[in-house]
Amino acid sequence: MKEAKSKSSGKKQRIDWVRENCRLLALTAAEFQQTQPFAGKTIGTGIHLEPKTAALLLTLKAGGARVIATGNLSSTQPETVFYLKERGVEVFARQTRNAEEHTANLDNILNQRPDILLDNGGDLFARYLEKPYPGLMGGTEETTSGRIRLLPLRDQLRMPILVINDSPIKQFAENKHGVGQSVMESYLRFTNRITNGQRITVFGYGSCGRGVADYFRSCKAIVSVVDADPLKTLEAHLDGFLTPYRGDAVRSADVIITVTGVKEILQEDVLEQLKDGTVLANAGHFPWEIDVEGIENSSNVQAVEMYEDDITTWILVDGRKIHLLGRGHMMNLAGPRPLGNTIEVMDMGFTLQSRCLEAVASGTVGQDHCVVTVPETINIAVAETYLELVRS
Ligand SMILES: NC(=O)c1ccc[n+]([C@@H]2O[C@H](COP(=O)([O-])OP(=O)(O)OC[C@H]3O[C@@H](n4cnc5c(N)ncnc54)[C@H](O)[C@@H]3O)[C@@H](O)[C@H]2O)c1
Repeated sequence: MKEAKSKSSGKKQRIDWVRENCRLLALTAAEFQQTQPFAGKTIGTGIHLEPKTAALLLTLKAGGARVIATGNLSSTQPETVFYLKERGVEVFARQTRNAEEHTANLDNILNQRPDILLDNGGDLFARYLEKPYPGLMGGTEETTSGRIRLLPLRDQLRMPILVINDSPIKQFAENKHGVGQSVMESYLRFTNRITNGQRITVFGYGSCGRGVADYFRSCKAIVSVVDADPLKTLEAHLDGFLTPYRGDAVRSADVIITVTGVKEILQEDVLEQLKDGTVLANAGHFPWEIDVEGIENSSNVQAVEMYEDDITTWILVDGRKIHLLGRGHMMNLAGPRPLGNTIEVMDMGFTLQSRCLEAVASGTVGQDHCVVTVPETINIAVAETYLELVRS
């Protein structure tokens, strides 16, 4: 019998799948290969090391940059580190939840005095101010949390730092739809539990919280919103969500998700109010929205059980069980096989990143662009290119 001819050239990696679907970044990389906007420059990066960021970092490399990279707390994926190293990116990171190790990695980046920084959460720029060096041209900041941290440091920074988060594209594409969809996907991935008819309380009705609330509602959950800002609460009410007082929202919840960017939204005292079986999770950038240590060490917690896949269960003195996903780290990049936001929304956001870094490298933005949003011309170019791709 004739042997069947294999058409397969061997299994490709998930990162290859991601890169092939980052169509905007692929176009940008092809252009950068010609124009070399980063020739002779070093870009230091501190952003989640997962497959989509690999596509971003390799785009910068295609533009002539020497790229030196570290990650954020908890989210570094070993396969991504390996993939990047194989392709000439210098990486100082491994998966860790240890803040000291993370700081040492930030120092490894800054000790090499990069010309440009790509930051996520303000870690690199804040650390740079502790030991500044000459020649830093500026860079980008990805998140809301980073903008909040860097704004008061503006007078010390005095260099162009474009905040990707504040682009309307990032707000509606990534924060609303991307985070909403991936937090929903992550809840199912972690727990494999039903959403229909479940009472979900979302803390924070910013662009991320809007998406989280919306996607849980679309999966037939009964969603309540708690926001410290009365305007946001009114908006949630008009959008059709329940907006009870905080205590009522906590007491009735089967699931509580924090996504505010603010510290200690849920502390030890919340244990008094929770129903037996409540699931807690965080989707905000830093793992500080749920005070995990404070709660775990409180006299109300009698025993701690850990399940596989990063689920912690606190057994309270009265026998109630409260579950925590991913130890309070950003749930869509934690737990089993974390995928993060969809490829396409990250492709848009990372193309904004690439174009903003190009603007910093070329000097088209200056000191007056310190911790400001993405230039309108870049937003329009990214929107038009994406629409052209989906129409073709
Ligand atoms: N998981 C992800 O993939 C992802 C992606 C992007 C951003 N983020 C992070 O998500 C967080 C929220 O981002 P955003 O863009 O929605 O921010 P935002 O500033 O637009 O919204 C935050 C909301 O939280 C509210 N808030 C503040 N303190 C509160 C409190 N004590 N109780 C209830 N509500 C409170 C604010 O009033 C605001 O409406 C940030 O940490 C951001 O970095 C996560």
